[in-house]
Amino acid sequence: MALKSSSADGRTRSSIQILIVAGLCCFFYILGAWQRSGFGKADILAEKIIKSTGDCNIIPNLTFETHHGGDVGPDDDSESKPKIYQPCHSRLTDYTPCHDQGRAMTFPRENMIYRERHCPPQQEKLHCLIPAPKGYVTPFPWPKSRDYVPFANAPYKSLTVEKAIQNWVQYEGNVFRFPGGGTQFPQGADKYIDQLASVLPIANGTVRTALDTGCGVASLGAYLWSRNVIAMSFAPRDSHEAQVQFALERGVPAVIGVFGTVKLPYPSRAFDMAHCSRCLIPWGANDGMYLMEVDRVLRPGGYWVLSGPPINWKNNYKSWQRPKEELQEEQRKIEEIAKLLCWDKKYQKGEMAIWQKRLNADSCRGRQDDSRATFCKSTDTDDAWYKKMEACITPYPDSGSSYEVAGGQLKVFPERLDAVPPRVASGSVPGVSVETYQEYNKEWKKHVHAYKKINKLIDSGRYRNIMDMNAGMGGFAAALESPKLWVMNVVPTIAEKKYTGCDI
Ligand SMILES: *[C@@H]1O[C@H](CO)[C@@H](O)[C@H](O)[C@H]1NC(C)=O
Ligand SMILES: *[C@@H]1O[C@H](CO)[C@@H](O)[C@H](O)[C@H]1NC(C)=O
Repeated sequence: MALKSSSADGRTRSSIQILIVAGLCCFFYILGAWQRSGFGKADILAEKIIKSTGDCNIIPNLTFETHHGGDVGPDDDSESKPKIYQPCHSRLTDYTPCHDQGRAMTFPRENMIYRERHCPPQQEKLHCLIPAPKGYVTPFPWPKSRDYVPFANAPYKSLTVEKAIQNWVQYEGNVFRFPGGGTQFPQGADKYIDQLASVLPIANGTVRTALDTGCGVASLGAYLWSRNVIAMSFAPRDSHEAQVQFALERGVPAVIGVFGTVKLPYPSRAFDMAHCSRCLIPWGANDGMYLMEVDRVLRPGGYWVLSGPPINWKNNYKSWQRPKEELQEEQRKIEEIAKLLCWDKKYQKGEMAIWQKRLNADSCRGRQDDSRATFCKSTDTDDAWYKKMEACITPYPDSGSSYEVAGGQLKVFPERLDAVPPRVASGSVPGVSVETYQEYNKEWKKHVHAYKKINKLIDSGRYRNIMDMNAGMGGFAAALESPKLWVMNVVPTIAEKKYTGCDI
């Protein structure tokens, strides 16, 4: 009897188990189908917002007219049916038009030309919507996203293998974990930033904008964020599969980019600091052209940080497995160009070296007489989009005395957000006066206030990467400023005022 009862018991237990398993299967099937259908929580939220904003009259005085005159295609009033675009094939989830690997390989490798932007001709442009990768889920909110990215959102494992010992990224089940390491800082970026901050005025807001060249998964930028420094990181779309994609999934500002033959897409004097740690850019090559380009985008008084080879080659050439003489020559060239640029070497310790750009032309009198110093002829040093990079030095704007910062002294962050930038105050931006600038900022404060009223999620951590497609002078980004999000300011090439909010 005992036996029978226990076997009956066993049957009940196993049928309960079967039920549970079947139930779970159903649950996950439905969950999967629901996720696959693309209708998730975010869509419900979006629907809510659309419903709640149906009444446009609650913010009567905002204009949503376009403020630039782009041609968006034939505007046929007689046929008012909206055009419907179909989804592209699922193998195109990663398609990046001007960085398509197939097209890239048809260009020369010399000077990294093949890694620059090469956009498809008109007839090859796609007219379909890029689908999200299969299983895509809403990213974790910042700051968790700094350290975790759902695998499905960027399903590329090669870096977890290639950079395993350098702690760039690890694969853990259905997420990637980013421990904050890099080739030059396997112990994490924070310690490395402590070393930087012992030399650079980061703590008091003097250094606010940084450019990280050859950024990997942008861990430096991710960790600079907590020190109130916004780093624009860039890296090519190369064998380090998906590094920029990882950066963006993490919620760290990044673009695909490379030092090749065209200028960096930023106006002159836009960054307080530029940084390269093992970024593999041949700084000494092409008559110093790349360092001259860094000099162009650095503000007077800005810093250039180089860590890794060739710095401290004497102690490291063996571990780097490179000939002593080659590294020595590399460093000699860099020092020579830095001197020509009139940079001050502020620091060298371990494998890190830091130079500072001087404040004005007055403090660089010597180089005017240096026959090797060629100055750029172009008068518009801010016009960088698709302009050829040249091995010439961008002259400083005039300054009153040898103590003054050429082009004017910027306020420290966060006062900088609301202050009138010197470029505007001095009247060097055509069509923008102090009054119009202040009016413009006030206008954007009003707009953002209204946006926040309608969309309560704006500053909640739900949105991390925001793109302003017609950023003007960056008023939207300045008004939105929050530790939970960042705005990529994009200025269309057809915009009238090319000057953007680079002083914010
Ligand atoms: C909207 O604009 C009108 C006319 O310029 C003005 O009289 C009114 O006070 C404005 N309303 C708000 C809410 O700003
Ligand atoms: C910021 O700190 C640096 C270095 O400590 C100092 O030289 C500079 O004067 C400070 N700037 C301001 C505006 O406080």
